Amino acid sequence: MSHKDPNVWWQRSDLCYQDYELCFAGHSVQQLAEQFGTPTFLYSTSRVKENLLRIRTALNNAGLERRSSIYYAMKANRFAPLLNFIKQTGLCGIDACSPNEVKHAISCGFSPSEISFTTTSLSAKDYAELARYDGLFMDCDTLHSIRSWGKLKPGSEIGIRINPAVGIGRACNDKLQYAGCNTTKFGIYREQFDQALTLAAKYNLIVRKIHFHTGCGYLTPELEQLDHVINECMKFVDAAPDVRRVNIGGGLGVPHLENDQPLNLELWSEVLSKHFAQRNLHIEVEPGDYVCKDAGLLLVSKTYVELKKDTLFVGVDAGFNIAPEPAYYGLPFQPVPLVTDDSALMPMTVVGNINEALDIWYENALLPNLEQHDYLAIINTGAYSSSMASNHCMRGEFNEFLIE
Ligand SMILES: Cc1ncc(COP(=O)(O)O)c(C=O)c1O
Repeated sequence: MSHKDPNVWWQRSDLCYQDYELCFAGHSVQQLAEQFGTPTFLYSTSRVKENLLRIRTALNNAGLERRSSIYYAMKANRFAPLLNFIKQTGLCGIDACSPNEVKHAISCGFSPSEISFTTTSLSAKDYAELARYDGLFMDCDTLHSIRSWGKLKPGSEIGIRINPAVGIGRACNDKLQYAGCNTTKFGIYREQFDQALTLAAKYNLIVRKIHFHTGCGYLTPELEQLDHVINECMKFVDAAPDVRRVNIGGGLGVPHLENDQPLNLELWSEVLSKHFAQRNLHIEVEPGDYVCKDAGLLLVSKTYVELKKDTLFVGVDAGFNIAPEPAYYGLPFQPVPLVTDDSALMPMTVVGNINEALDIWYENALLPNLEQHDYLAIINTGAYSSSMASNHCMRGEFNEFLIE
C-alpha cells in the first residue's frame, strides 16, 4: 500500500490531505508546525462549534428544544481562549468540579448561574469558597456533601449525583466506567438515597435535580446500555418528588480506531426521546470529550527512527505526560504524517520522550518512510490532554493555539 493518496478512516472535510499536504481547518499543518514549533496543541474553533451544534440539534430532535441545556465539562480542556470562544457561541454553560475551575470559568465570561458544579471530595475550605458564588448550582455526590452544603446554604435548591450501579464506557473499557460492578466513589447509591433525601430535608434543601455520569467514551454500540442506565436512574427521579431536572452527564465519545463506529446522534436522541419526551423534566447534558477531542491536534517532531528486534520505533519530542489518555486508559492516539508520498506504509511504534514504560503513543501505526518527515500530528488530542498535563521529567512545556 502506498501513502500517496491515502484513504484513511479519520479524514473529514476539515481534516484531510489536499495536494499531498495535511490540512486542518483550512490551514497547512506543515506550515503551522514550522511557524509554531513543537510540541504544540492546535484547536479548531469551527470544529468545537460544530460539535456543540450537533448536540444541540440532537436534543431538539428528541423534542427537548426548550427543555434542555448543555454544560461543557471544562475539565476536558480549560485553555482560556477556548473557553472564551465557547462562551461566545452562547450554546452552553459550564460543568465545573473545583473552586479554581469556577474562578477560571468566570474569568472567561461565564456567570455563576451558568455553572453546574459536581462535588467530589471537597474540603470545608472548598465548600466555603463555593458558597460565596450566588447562583452556582451544586450537584452533591455524597451524604457528606449534602450535609456540608446544607449547613452553608440551608433552604437552597440542590441536585443529587446518584450512582445507578450500572455504567457505560467505550468498548466496555472498565477504566472508563464510573458505575457498575465495582463500587465507586461517584454518587449516592439506591441503598442510601432515602437517607440522602432525609438529610436534604433536615437542612430545608430542595432536591431539584438528579445527576448521573456513569462513564466515558460511549459510541453507537453502547447506546443500548445508555437506555439501561437511564432506566435505572429514573427510579431515583420517581422517588424524589421535587425533581424538575435530570443531568445525564457526559460520556459521548469519538472514534479512536478505524473500526470504531462513530456515535450516531440520531439514535442517541431517540434514546432521550423515549425516556424524556413525555415527561415534564428539563434535561441537562455535560459533555467534554465530544466537544473538544476531535477539534484538537498535537504537533510533535520526530527525534529518531530505529529498528529494535522486529519493532520499528519512532521517537517524538512529546510524551504521555502532556496527553495521558493512551497511557492511563489504553485509548490509542493515532499519529498522522503531515505530507503524503510514494513510499509504502509500514507498522511503526510511536513513543515519547519520558522515561516510563507506558510512554507509548501508538503501537504498530501504519506510517510511510519517515526519512523526509520532520513532524507528525497526533489526532484527537483536544480533550483530556493539555488539561491533564504534568511536568514529569520536567517535560511539561507545550504551546497551545486556537485556529479558526
Ligand atoms: C461529572 C462529570 N460530568 C461530565 C464529564 C465529562 O465527560 P466526557 O468528557 O466523557 O463527556 C465528566 C468526566 O469525567 C464528569 O466526571
